[in-house]
Amino acid sequence: MSEHAYTVASSPARVERDGGTRIDVTAEQMPILEGIALATLELEPGAAREPHWHPNAAELSYCLEGQATITIVEPGGRRVPMRVEPGDLAFVPPGFVHDIEPSPAAGARFLVCFSDERPEDLSLTASLAEMPAHVLAATFGVETEAFEWVKPVERDAFIVGDASASEASATPAGPYRLELERMEPDVANDGGSLIFGRRDGFPVLDGLAMYSLRMRGRGVREPHWHPNAAELNYLIEGSVRLTIVSPGGEVETVDLAAGDISFIPRAYFHHIEVTDDADARMAVFFDHEMPSDNGIAAALSAYPDSLLAAAFGQPESRLAALPDMAEDVLLAPGASE
Ligand SMILES: [Fe+2]
Ligand SMILES: [Fe+2]
Repeated sequence: MSEHAYTVASSPARVERDGGTRIDVTAEQMPILEGIALATLELEPGAAREPHWHPNAAELSYCLEGQATITIVEPGGRRVPMRVEPGDLAFVPPGFVHDIEPSPAAGARFLVCFSDERPEDLSLTASLAEMPAHVLAATFGVETEAFEWVKPVERDAFIVGDASASEASATPAGPYRLELERMEPDVANDGGSLIFGRRDGFPVLDGLAMYSLRMRGRGVREPHWHPNAAELNYLIEGSVRLTIVSPGGEVETVDLAAGDISFIPRAYFHHIEVTDDADARMAVFFDHEMPSDNGIAAALSAYPDSLLAAAFGQPESRLAALPDMAEDVLLAPGASE
């Protein structure tokens, strides 16, 4: 496979516990990654991802299945629980402690994107175990015996099976959650739809964003680039082909199946097309909270036909025959063959 693509399930960075599994794709597995990484997280009913934080990375989670409560404790101690369901995004700023408790009935499955190619983890269990019992006792104003059970652990709990999570006491909304798939699409046409999960609709975002991209069978994502952002996309369903043109003339075309990711460095030129008649769905993550987009439609239309004719070595009439596009189209139905 191309260095720009990776099958998540083949990652050796798989952490399995009684209550679930996390599979990481970081720069360790995919050296081309820069400023972004992805994990899939599956939690069984009644399990929990233990409280932890990421010193060097923000986290943007997209719920694929099930239901869960993610609880953040803000600096200063305010507790912010939020119920997340399929199609919701949850954002955790760098260093903020958080846990995930799936619904006892359903479990939950997430895509978890980080704003660093090598995200760091500190867990509550491993961290607490390094503190002297008398210090913890003094902190809580109790006798040292009350904390003598705290011993260095061989491994942190990570995912706790049978945590008997309380039924979610969720807040109706919070600054850290966005019900992305309940929003009106920002783009919708015969090629598919796009919903932007970015800072203009989700002000807490910093250093990450996600677009929900749905493409109809044979549909086309306009050739484009993101001047300010690298892109890491995860194909949820369908079959797509992607071409990436790198500076220096390197060109890679990759065919992706469900469960594959691809990485497009900042401002590299790329397109996506659905290779069969079935619809495709992608979670498209960016390493910027307001990713920008330059499409080929408006860019080509903005330059004079005479200039483009000279550049491409073609008669001017060929360029003049193309429609002038004032705006990018983003998505288009596939051309009939
Ligand atoms: Fe996390
Ligand atoms: Fe893109």
